[in-house]
Amino acid sequence: MASMIKALCVALIAAVLVMAVVPRPAEAALGCGTVISYLSPCLSYVTDQGPLGDCCGGVKGLYGAAKTTPDRQSACNCLKSLASSYKRVNLSKAAGLPKQCGVNIPYKISPSTDCSKVK
Ligand SMILES: *[C@@H]1O[C@H](CO)[C@@H](O)[C@H](O)[C@H]1NC(C)=O
Repeated sequence: MASMIKALCVALIAAVLVMAVVPRPAEAALGCGTVISYLSPCLSYVTDQGPLGDCCGGVKGLYGAAKTTPDRQSACNCLKSLASSYKRVNLSKAAGLPKQCGVNIPYKISPSTDCSKVK
């Protein structure tokens, strides 16, 4: 009996530890809505409708917000789906954005980016 209680306690402690250590994706990762709100100033630029404007401010803000691997992967997935769903996005402009803004985003903004490799 005592050993069962002990085992239960160990299991409980382990569960609490796991919950504390493993980030839950819904809370840890950057939401797509957040990514879009950072990059909304870029929309007219990447769709060939207007100047760069405040786009770099958004790119830098996003870069500063996406600090962890789950954040970056989720931002990547979001950009990827944006790049493929907005048909009018000029992909060469989108891919050139980080360079244009002097930000080192370690992946290409493109519909074919493998976001699972983003660190
Ligand atoms: C995309 O932008 C580049 C650079 O401004 C331009 O040369 C190219 O013609 C554009 N592509 C399309 C499909 O509009």
